[in-house]
Amino acid sequence: MTNIILCGGSGTRLWPISRSLMPKQFVKLFLEESAEHKDKKSLFQLTVERNSKVCKSQFIVSNTEQYFLALDQLEELGKTNNKYLLEPVGRNTAPAIALACMQLDYDEIVLVTPSDHLIKDEKEYEKVLKKAKEFAKDNKLVTFGITPTFAETGFGYIEASPANGDSSLVNGMDVVNFHEKPSLDVANEYLETNNKYTNNKSTSYYMWNSGMFCFKAGVFLDELEKYSAEIYNTCKTAFDNKKIDNSTLRIQHSHMEAIPDDSIDYAVMEKSDIVKVIPSNIAWSDVGSFDALYEELPKDKNGNTKNDKHISIDSKNNLVYGSDRIIASIDVEDLIIIDTGDALLISKKGSSQKVKKVVEKLKASN
Ligand code: GDD
Ligand code: MG
Repeated sequence: MTNIILCGGSGTRLWPISRSLMPKQFVKLFLEESAEHKDKKSLFQLTVERNSKVCKSQFIVSNTEQYFLALDQLEELGKTNNKYLLEPVGRNTAPAIALACMQLDYDEIVLVTPSDHLIKDEKEYEKVLKKAKEFAKDNKLVTFGITPTFAETGFGYIEASPANGDSSLVNGMDVVNFHEKPSLDVANEYLETNNKYTNNKSTSYYMWNSGMFCFKAGVFLDELEKYSAEIYNTCKTAFDNKKIDNSTLRIQHSHMEAIPDDSIDYAVMEKSDIVKVIPSNIAWSDVGSFDALYEELPKDKNGNTKNDKHISIDSKNNLVYGSDRIIASIDVEDLIIIDTGDALLISKKGSSQKVKKVVEKLKASN
């Protein structure tokens, strides 16, 4: 199994830690306090380590600008023999995955993973992947479903029913519908029904799409050609005109620019009839906001994230993240304080999704 790692995103919801030249997946946020890792590692490095255990090789699809970051961080892990595909401009996940699949044999099973997620139950993850491989061999597009715990509108929702009425979740389910990024009303509706509904005695479930996929490279390309022919055709031209140096494939700017921008979710998953989902209880987080990051970082007895440079006087339950400066807090609770060299963010916990509004304002003023 080949692991395609997508790392071309910019992760603006963790501004000011995450920047276009140092996006979230490369920031060394984790896991100073964890038993397994003495050093801080990035989500990208944790992804590579996790997937190296289950995949024979890694194929990294990244933006040209992030190539050296990826290279350096892999060298730190002692991994020097990786394949890269470099995009001069990002065209979202459907082209990124398609271009990588074009380099592989038709029957090669690929595991596509984002580079900016956390999976804490690796034992369960390995079990789930074994199952996914079986379905992929059977020419399915496999997704991994997470039980929703709140009405998140930034995710895809998978509506699925157990195959042949078999309600044992580990056997995977046939996907009835795939709803990428629903409105808040719709996401709330799913949650209010406890993420399931019953119709003609059979029960269907709603799950978050984790953003990971498993399939034969050729089967994915067939589905892309069937449902999003323009993306397929422009990717094919771009791929045929690539440049290769050593193990690095470089797509040319003009060809990359000609590819329509679309995600795998809209371009293929919402449309295909051969999608399976495996309910995956793998302790997954997309670390998509500072509120989510707070949940994942180690905390002291007052609920403040552990930080040698934070002097807390009667402060509780704060996320305090800094670089070199001392940060002191007095009598404050439930705050997010993020201090970097050139920007300081202060937010109430629960409001961190609004960081993207700050980024929009910054972009507008530049
Ligand atoms: N190489 C490359 N090129 N990678 C990209 C590009 C690109 O143009 N755009 C995004 N990526 C990478 C990101 O770095 C990330 O690792 C992954 O692809 C997914 O992209 P996101 O932009 O983070 O997608 P999303 O979070 O909005 O939505 C996806 O993930 C959700 C779960 O976190 C969808 O698959 C949703 O359905 C899913 O619920
Ligand atoms: Mg994401």
